[in-house]
Amino acid sequence: MNNLETNRLKEDLQATVTELSDTYEELSLLYRLSEEFTGLGVDGICYLLLKKAASSLSVRTGVVLFLDEDSGELYTQAYIGNWDEDTTFKKGNNILWRAIRSNKAIAVCNHNTHEEKLDKVKCNSLLITPLNGKKQIIGVLMVADKKDGREFYSGDIKLLTTIASQAALFIENALLTQEMQVFLIETIRSFVKALEASSLWTAGHTERVTRYALSIAELLDLDGHEIERLRVSSLLHDIGKIATPKEILNKEGKLDKEEWAEIRRHPIVGAEILSGLSSFKEVIECIRYHHEHYDGTGIHGLCGEEIPLMARILTVADAFDAMMSDRPYRKKKTIEETVREITTCAGKQFDPNVVQACISWVKSTHKIILPEPESYI
Ligand SMILES: [Fe+2]
Repeated sequence: MNNLETNRLKEDLQATVTELSDTYEELSLLYRLSEEFTGLGVDGICYLLLKKAASSLSVRTGVVLFLDEDSGELYTQAYIGNWDEDTTFKKGNNILWRAIRSNKAIAVCNHNTHEEKLDKVKCNSLLITPLNGKKQIIGVLMVADKKDGREFYSGDIKLLTTIASQAALFIENALLTQEMQVFLIETIRSFVKALEASSLWTAGHTERVTRYALSIAELLDLDGHEIERLRVSSLLHDIGKIATPKEILNKEGKLDKEEWAEIRRHPIVGAEILSGLSSFKEVIECIRYHHEHYDGTGIHGLCGEEIPLMARILTVADAFDAMMSDRPYRKKKTIEETVREITTCAGKQFDPNVVQACISWVKSTHKIILPEPESYI
């Protein structure tokens, strides 16, 4: 082997090593991104994507634009830096649409500001890459305004394309999950409406309890997943009443002991009805325990934090609506009377922290004068 051949072999080897190292870097980045994107919703993925893109490429501005299939427009889904959140782009010939049509990243340096609306970005440099899911084009990711004032080079383009392609798959899945969730919630709503139609006294109760429970939960430390579970639990909390005889549900006048015993079965029946849905475990527990008492005197005898937090919230929201509504055997209470009653039951029937959150919410939504929180808990 002469010198020339040896040198060529060295160069080839060097190129292969570089290529392998690049591939390794890319794969390890994809792996890290997958781990971080997993479990996030659409908004969470978009903001993480922007954060990653901004830190990796050292840019001041980043925007995720989604494609609205009905209007055919690109609209702002998430952004960081200097951007107007109401910005939309009609189908046209600007670089955003060129990136989508060509399905390739487009980098522009010394971007002149003639492009429609893109003059909002201080563009010493602009880089746009399509967000392509497995089945559909989701939109585009745009980064602009490099901190060092330079233009984007091929390494930046490759890096952004890698991050965007991975994010697009996760966004597509999250959108699908979101769609399924909306479908599920709407189906549950229709079902509950049908159930409420059979009772003369509970029309609108479920929707109101759901609203109250979510308002209270906002003031407590629940994450997005728990909030969604609480929404489903609230919508389904009285599903067990499907097995309660109509004569009892609609009885004019006071219920006797046996009739109360029948009504008190509904949390257990509700949990049984849903027991086949393994992904509803937390919802089922919440429904099963939504009539537990904080001091342990409820149906199952669970006490304090043994009762799931979602169930403790639902209990207060449920009682709040029940007190504020007419029943065949009693008139509804005023807001002041309701607050007083709930306050009296803090630490007995209700979790004092949840009561505190409930009172804070009432104070923010009703014009009433209430005593200071310390004095009623
Ligand atoms: Fe109930």
